Amino acid sequence: MSGGAASAAYHEELRRFVEEATQSFQAAASTDELEEARARHIGDTRGRLRTFSVALGRLPHELKPAAGAAFKLAKEELASAYDRCRRQLAVAAPLAPVLDRTMPARESWRGSLHPVSLVVDEICDIFRALGFTIALGPEVETAWYNFGALNFPADHPAMELHDTLYLEGGGLLRTHTSPVQVRTLQQYPPPIRILAPGNVYRRDFFDSTHSPVFAQLEGLAIDEGISFADLKATLNRFAHAFYGKSRRTRFGPSYFPFTEPSAQMDVEVDLGDGKGLRWVEIMGCGLVHPAVLEAAGVDGEQYTGWAFGMGPGRIAQSRYGISDCRLLFESDVRFLEQFAT
Ligand code: DAH
Repeated sequence: MSGGAASAAYHEELRRFVEEATQSFQAAASTDELEEARARHIGDTRGRLRTFSVALGRLPHELKPAAGAAFKLAKEELASAYDRCRRQLAVAAPLAPVLDRTMPARESWRGSLHPVSLVVDEICDIFRALGFTIALGPEVETAWYNFGALNFPADHPAMELHDTLYLEGGGLLRTHTSPVQVRTLQQYPPPIRILAPGNVYRRDFFDSTHSPVFAQLEGLAIDEGISFADLKATLNRFAHAFYGKSRRTRFGPSYFPFTEPSAQMDVEVDLGDGKGLRWVEIMGCGLVHPAVLEAAGVDGEQYTGWAFGMGPGRIAQSRYGISDCRLLFESDVRFLEQFAT
């Protein structure tokens, strides 16, 4: 072979080799396949590129500079073709199996208020419109605020319903929101009209009608010249706003140590169980006992007042037709989402 022919053949083969190698890099479907193609074509000692470097050494001296330059160029082309393919695979590889653009979007969750909170808010709104403000008190109380100041005689049977957890150091978990009456009367001079929502605790079973912790809502109105007529008028106004104007209400005798006289208020409601209208007790109430006013430092000759206590849980049950009170505590989303607005 003449020197010219040998040189032309070298350049021609080198060009074809670069083409083939580039095609096999592009055909690689995975990084493994690409690495395999790289070893076959560029690989340090066993790759095909090496044969061109050997052939270069055997060319006549005067042809070497041009052939050497072509070899160097071919090597660089291969390196950049390999790099380009590797980068393409790196971008495509992790995304392909993970990202499914046709998948439905994840459902979004919107929180809503618990039915007891809904009822408390609604009742507070009704009484706020009548001039009441919200008052809060501690859940850990002293025996004096929970019982003594509320005229519970020591060892009175009324206390049997109010067994609770007693804490080291003399505190107890309050059994009702009535202590807030005393705390408010001590803090502010009459006239007073407050509503005190909050949780209370009792030694009770957890069954369809009882829970050892539940919500209460206390009301208190103290002013000059307040009578039982004010109590009835205000509570009827509330019942009609909450349950509907045509609902019948009634008051019956009851007993609480901190009111005299004491009453219970019933409303005629349809619980949605197909049994129609029936009387349901919604609260205890009465005129504030003079002993409570005295314990709180209020002049019972000048001021009188009335109070009530109700269970928003029971009221939510009567409002929404919930037969088992445990549903209010279980946080089952299938139950709670029915109250989302
Ligand atoms: N504190 C009472 C209870 O938990 C409820 C109650 C009844 C509160 C009559 C009152 C009231 O303010 O006048 O059983």
